[in-house]
Amino acid sequence: ISNKISFKNQVVIITGGGGGLGKQYALNFAERGAKVVVNDLGGSLQGKGNSTKSADVVVNKIRSRGGIAVANYDNIVTNPEGILRTAIDNFGTVHILINNAGILKDASFKKMTEKQFRDVLDVHLNGSYKLTRACWSFFRNQKYGRVIMTASPAGLYGNFGQANYSAAKLGMVGLGETLAKEGIKYNIKVNIIAPLAKSRMTETIMPPDILKKLSPEKICPLVLTLASNSCPSSGNIYEVAAGLYAQIRWERSHGTYLKPDSSLTPEAILFKLPEVIDFTNEKPQHPTQLSNYNDIWSKTSILSSNNQGDMKIQSLHN
Ligand code: NAI
Repeated sequence: ISNKISFKNQVVIITGGGGGLGKQYALNFAERGAKVVVNDLGGSLQGKGNSTKSADVVVNKIRSRGGIAVANYDNIVTNPEGILRTAIDNFGTVHILINNAGILKDASFKKMTEKQFRDVLDVHLNGSYKLTRACWSFFRNQKYGRVIMTASPAGLYGNFGQANYSAAKLGMVGLGETLAKEGIKYNIKVNIIAPLAKSRMTETIMPPDILKKLSPEKICPLVLTLASNSCPSSGNIYEVAAGLYAQIRWERSHGTYLKPDSSLTPEAILFKLPEVIDFTNEKPQHPTQLSNYNDIWSKTSILSSNNQGDMKIQSLHN
């Protein structure tokens, strides 16, 4: 087994660190020597109200165990700079940012108001953007940074009643993938998790026997690994729940190549659709960047028009 992961002399900001997953992260980072900024505005699951209590409880618990922590009660949407300032004023810098704070405003798409849509994007996507942006120059200047984006299975796969939430969460995937590319030369590593765990978010919608298996402690080991100096990965998505730790990636089918002439019609695509969506006919590709369009062009330009199935299209019309 590798050397023990330590966060001694490292400063970590955990948004939404007063409850649920964030609280467990805070306790675990502190136990391994980190200086922890526990940010939480202490509102309801829907983002109503605020209180200093939830962040204070976590900070007191860390201190009572001999750890180092400071509370911050700012809203990540309206005062991300205040959160960073708490880190700088108390600990001088920031090394690790766990974008974890979140709210829910579930409704079927038909009933979802624009405010419900915006509010959820604001906290998850815009809040994570703003605070990461604020920390970015510190990461670059010290040539060290670790960022976790908290996405969700709902973002990766969609979930009934969560159009706002899933849009925000997949947005955070794209944000994380780009920041990983921009950050790598400064030793800034950005990874994305899609967790499932017992918290007030899931308590009322999942049966107790399942919730029992979904303790938030099970998410911590992966988050701490990804936030560590020895983190081997950047720009990756991990699904994590109940003891499962798995990477999720994009897959491109082998696809089909069509010649860009007058036979390139919607009907030709329809005819070729089985090839477009066939993931079995060749080794799958797992792209991490845009395709090479020169390569595609050279393949399509040597094709004959017949390849586009216009004979078949004729017969479809007859
Ligand atoms: P939670 O509701 O227990 O924790 C979220 C915390 O964020 C709360 O303590 C809340 O006060 C804080 N918060 C909300 N808005 C804030 C704001 N504007 N500024 C500062 N703090 C704010 O929920 P949980 O389950 O711990 O969620 C943590 C993260 O994990 C969220 O991003 C959530 O969307 C995500 N997640 C959780 C899943 C689960 O199964 N519990 C599933 C997928 C994703």
